[in-house]
Amino acid sequence: MSQESAGGPSLALDELFEEVQVGGLRLRNRFAMAPMTRSKSPGGVPNAENIGYYRDHAAGGVGLIITEGTYVRGPAAGPDLAVPHFYGEESAAGWREVVDAVHAQGSAIVPQLWHMGASRGGSPKFEPEVPTVSPSGVKASGKPVGRALTNDDLDTLIESYVESALLAQQLGFDGIEVHGAHGYLLDQFFWGTTNLRTDEYGGPLRQRAAFPARVVAAVREAVGPAFPIIYRFSQWKGDDYTARIAETPGELEELLTPLVDAGVDVFHASVRRHWVPEFTTHAEDVSLAGWTKKVTGLPVITVGSVGVDKVFLGDGIDETQAQRFSVLRDQFARGEFDLVAVGRALLADPEWVNKVRDGRLADIIPFR
Ligand SMILES: Cc1cc2nc3c(=O)[nH]c(=O)nc-3n(C[C@H](O)[C@H](O)[C@H](O)COP(=O)(O)O)c2cc1C
Repeated sequence: MSQESAGGPSLALDELFEEVQVGGLRLRNRFAMAPMTRSKSPGGVPNAENIGYYRDHAAGGVGLIITEGTYVRGPAAGPDLAVPHFYGEESAAGWREVVDAVHAQGSAIVPQLWHMGASRGGSPKFEPEVPTVSPSGVKASGKPVGRALTNDDLDTLIESYVESALLAQQLGFDGIEVHGAHGYLLDQFFWGTTNLRTDEYGGPLRQRAAFPARVVAAVREAVGPAFPIIYRFSQWKGDDYTARIAETPGELEELLTPLVDAGVDVFHASVRRHWVPEFTTHAEDVSLAGWTKKVTGLPVITVGSVGVDKVFLGDGIDETQAQRFSVLRDQFARGEFDLVAVGRALLADPEWVNKVRDGRLADIIPFR
């Protein structure tokens, strides 16, 4: 495949750089910054360094910024003293500066709302007096941690998500992303290993989706019909890359349909490699993002090792990376995704999107 053109190397990704409206989001291009925890907000309050970090990424051309995971009020959202909160006056003031700085550079931005459930562990630094809570009080390993959520806790949690979503709307964010992936709280409901409940929130797949769907429905009710809700989910868990919540497209449909009905606008299908076909039982060579589009009919964000390759440690582009971009382009042409999120490549180089757009590939600072 030839990469050279008169103006320098071209990745033929032009269509991804056109303005677009996706799930109510108006974006200057189809590149999103993937949510990435930085733990650089002591006290849970976004500070000048955080504001500069997001401003720089917006200036680098990304269409949509999904912030690092931010704690909802809880109970017991997470263990870390420096993960930003998405509640409370002080944090809100910091976020207001973030959103204004990002908008001034032409990007849209949504906060990722995060509760870690059992993954918070048994000895949190933040709110050590509050017990860890999760669907059934067990970690992925089956070992007990903290306690199982009561019905009152579930109501409180819903209020916490609603509080953060309303704050996002009030501060001028362009929507929210609910973190339902990677083995954290909402994913612990999805996954049979961590959801042993015998009430209406456990059991068959559809019921395991019931609490995440209640969260989305309550947020939708509070923010109204026009405020975009992105829902991120994954098969893989932080401590188990081979874990699966859906073995077939039919199971995926069972899990996601309650979320569609609850009011999700965009799904964010988190995989580690965007080009890997999801269901080996199916002859079709389709990624998780592609299947998600098929079974939900909604727009989807793909992600996973875009722009991260040993190639970028060299000077310029080599065939491996070019083929990867060509896979991305082919997946887009086949309608497998609407937006593509980029994580580590943007950590290494906030200007990654503009450099790719302009074919300045040799200038890209590689991720190490
Ligand atoms: C440092 C770091 C922090 C991350 N934190 C989060 C997070 O807070 N929320 C989340 O959903 N995913 C998180 N992820 C996963 C990324 O969003 C993304 O899915 C992953 O890095 C794959 O994309 P990439 O290959 O482009 O980096 C994190 C990844 C990295 C590298």
